[in-house]
Amino acid sequence: MSEMSTVYVGMSADIIHPGHLNIIAEAAKLGVVTVGVLTDQAIASYKRLPYLNYEQRSLVVKALKGVDTIVPQETLDYVPNLEKLKPDFVVHGDDWVTGVQKHTRQRVVECLAQWGGIVIDIPYTQGISSSQLNERLKEIGTTPDIRLKRLRRLIEAKKPVRIMESHSGLTGLLIEHCSVEKNGVKREFDGMWSSSLTDSTSRGKPDIEAVDLTTRLHSINDMLECTTKPFIFDGDTGGKTEHFVYTVRTLERLGISAVIIEDKAGLKRNSLFGTDVNQVLEDKVLFCEKIASGKRAQITTDFMIIARLESLIAGLTVDDALERALAYCDAGADGVMIHSKEQTGTDIKEFCLRFRKEKPQIPIVLVPTTYNSFKEEVLIEWGANVIIYANHMLRSAYPAMLETAKSILENERSLEVDSKCMSIKQILTLIPGVE
Ligand code: SPV
Ligand code: MG
Repeated sequence: MSEMSTVYVGMSADIIHPGHLNIIAEAAKLGVVTVGVLTDQAIASYKRLPYLNYEQRSLVVKALKGVDTIVPQETLDYVPNLEKLKPDFVVHGDDWVTGVQKHTRQRVVECLAQWGGIVIDIPYTQGISSSQLNERLKEIGTTPDIRLKRLRRLIEAKKPVRIMESHSGLTGLLIEHCSVEKNGVKREFDGMWSSSLTDSTSRGKPDIEAVDLTTRLHSINDMLECTTKPFIFDGDTGGKTEHFVYTVRTLERLGISAVIIEDKAGLKRNSLFGTDVNQVLEDKVLFCEKIASGKRAQITTDFMIIARLESLIAGLTVDDALERALAYCDAGADGVMIHSKEQTGTDIKEFCLRFRKEKPQIPIVLVPTTYNSFKEEVLIEWGANVIIYANHMLRSAYPAMLETAKSILENERSLEVDSKCMSIKQILTLIPGVE
């Protein structure tokens, strides 16, 4: 083996464990080691965002014995870096010989063959894996600071950032742990939406800002205690500017990542009533002042105040929404949410395309409750960054509960509905940590 052989190792390096050290040690026996540290974007393309950001992970890897150089690996695919570096060897754990990473490995094998390089598969270090460590970390929890920062990191790393409504500890747990695997990519929700509609409804109250902040914080607290993913708080109108500044600080202290406030005035009615009820918009200048006061009040740089445009809900034009959106951005809004109850999506699409031309970088939040025939990839094409499924946990739970209640009344026993209920064993062991 020539002294000057070059070796490439790709890794996320979020939680370094002896398995990583073994791979680097083996790689160093073969030659000069370059580690391609996967960027947040590369990792978010196939699994959850890492705990540490790229700079932090790079620092750790750089300090490891046996590592000569590090470079960013900007895609899950190794090929772009390999073509630049033309290494003699690529070293990886043999877990990628089978399973979802098989395809990635095959591309590496074919790429290296162009200059006679080879892949070395190192026997996987048994008994320890990043996935297991990640599960344990989730049990330990998070801190308000880490959780708060996570939304901005997600918005920078992936599209869409997928947010699900949550109104209780139980729905929070479900959103924290639920995932599906599609084409080798683990898909899960990135965070939670504390919806005024579902929080009020689950308390038997209408969605008219009748549930005060302190009460809303009770359900938020339950969810914060048993989850680690970021939260977006539905701040309704934000209330009086003098009150909003306190809300911002309270939310920040708890580790909430963002508040969305809507430009309505008077008695707030749910947007999905559309023009069936009186929807009065706030004066543009006053709303700008509310946003600016909130921005001045916040302590961290990471907390986001997102301006929600209700022009389309109130029967006004895309022009009106756009003009307001630009003014709100000038006032300091960190993102905009455009809302509509049109099913066609044409108004939302027009807004997004026109807004994107003016503001290429400002995140757009969409809530496709009524225009739900469009898949996420279409909404991303329009310019969406964050997609919120705003009420679906509650709306799906209620019909199931109603059916159960009716069945028991009709049959004078619960036997008939048993098959639709989770088993007693399942409910007893649903909460993590219960023996
Ligand atoms: C909520 O979920 O409370 C919202 C979104 O504000 S919507 O109900 O569509 O107005
Ligand atoms: Mg709401």
